[in-house]
Amino acid sequence: MRLFTKLKNGLKRLPLHMPGHKRKNIFNNTLPYDIDVTEIDDFDNLYNPSGILKQSLENLTKLYNSHQSFYLVNGSTSGIFVAIKSFCDVGDKIIIARNSHKAVFNFAEILKLDVVFLDCEIDDFGIVKEINLDNLKKIVLQNLDAKCVVINSPTYDGVISNVGEIADFLHKNKIPLIVDEAHGSHLFLDNKDAVNLGADVVINSMHKTLPSLTQTAVIHVSKNALNKEILSRKVAKYVSVFCSSSPSYILLCSLDECVSYLQRKGEKDYQKLKQNLDLFKKRILSLRFLKVIGYNENADFYDFDNTKIVISTAKTSISGIKLSKLLRSYNIECEMSSLYSVLCLTSICDDKKTLLDLADALIKIDSKLKIKDNVIINSLPRLNIKKVVYKEIKSCDLSNSFGKVCAEYVYAYPPGIPILVPGSVINNDIINCLSLLKRNHVNLVSTNGLIDKNLVVVGTNYLTKN
Ligand SMILES: Cc1ncc(COP(=O)(O)O)c(C=O)c1O
Repeated sequence: MRLFTKLKNGLKRLPLHMPGHKRKNIFNNTLPYDIDVTEIDDFDNLYNPSGILKQSLENLTKLYNSHQSFYLVNGSTSGIFVAIKSFCDVGDKIIIARNSHKAVFNFAEILKLDVVFLDCEIDDFGIVKEINLDNLKKIVLQNLDAKCVVINSPTYDGVISNVGEIADFLHKNKIPLIVDEAHGSHLFLDNKDAVNLGADVVINSMHKTLPSLTQTAVIHVSKNALNKEILSRKVAKYVSVFCSSSPSYILLCSLDECVSYLQRKGEKDYQKLKQNLDLFKKRILSLRFLKVIGYNENADFYDFDNTKIVISTAKTSISGIKLSKLLRSYNIECEMSSLYSVLCLTSICDDKKTLLDLADALIKIDSKLKIKDNVIINSLPRLNIKKVVYKEIKSCDLSNSFGKVCAEYVYAYPPGIPILVPGSVINNDIINCLSLLKRNHVNLVSTNGLIDKNLVVVGTNYLTKN
């Protein structure tokens, strides 16, 4: 039986239990109070499943062809914590891609991990490229005591790394691979998913690219994982540690519905999306200056997820931020805009009209643009993290921050890839990068919320730790 049916038909007893709304919609709105429960008798327990949730999780495992898969009600953020904690203890060494999401950096800070970075290259359009295999091999061989490697594939922009070869190389060195595949929950429909390419642990935000409610995500232990039985037990334990002890049945229901839908119609509807994307491609071939990566411009990467429509303004007279504003005037809201690109996410829930409307809006905008060769930032600023103990922090103007040690996270949001983290020594690359982003009104976020005017840095009185 599907969870939704059970919730709709099976909640007959008087609710002398949580939540406090008692399944009554006293506000008379459209929220689903009537099915909002947690683990009451006969409705199973997410962290010790034996009934309807066990069945649902088995369906998930089968769908992704994993060794064991788990639901997460706190997003991929919680899945990243689960995955890293399944391999690392306090102070351990970890290798992470420089373009990792802030959740990876946050948890590395919480666990006081010894972080080694895999630097990322950026292409001529300002897009972060796939993990460079030779560089990864070099870094790994210099750090064979690392407890795991974390990469992000596909990236927000859709760039897919060579997960298969990376996993093979790491496994030869007995190091597990975590793939943050938050943006690629649908990739198994294209045989490009990290579970089947051999990563050990993979995390998907179901809510990002599939029809599932916000915050729903999954984590998989793959069939190819090192010590997969022990690993599955650890992952199960940490899912229950890092997710709410009152998992929302509305979120679980949404996951259950999504899995059932994908089993029945996923492949067929994904093919339909691809056909519609082909129509989009044909229509935008007349663009003169706007470049749509993988469509009227080669996606020069190891592999690319074509459900992401990345429109580059790098060769035009407008910024990505300006393009997203213009698209808004055509009633189109994009996922993200940055200095020289706009990202539109498509999914199996988009129809032909939406994609053709986007194509038509781009053609109209493009007809008014002029050609311009912009200077692209060609690397993510390197992070040189000092481990410092300090008593005081102070705010400081960006222009006076050279050589100071940052005491906060700073990132453009989205995508949430830190430009600065606590302990980073501020260099000219970082100052130039932040100044450029500010000048172009990119949405910058900092822990202390002062980035519009200031950076928060460590006071002069600090000790450097080993
Ligand atoms: C690459 C990446 N990983 C992880 C996350 C966190 O996912 P969630 O919002 O599901 O917690 C995000 C969110 O945007 C992301 O972009």
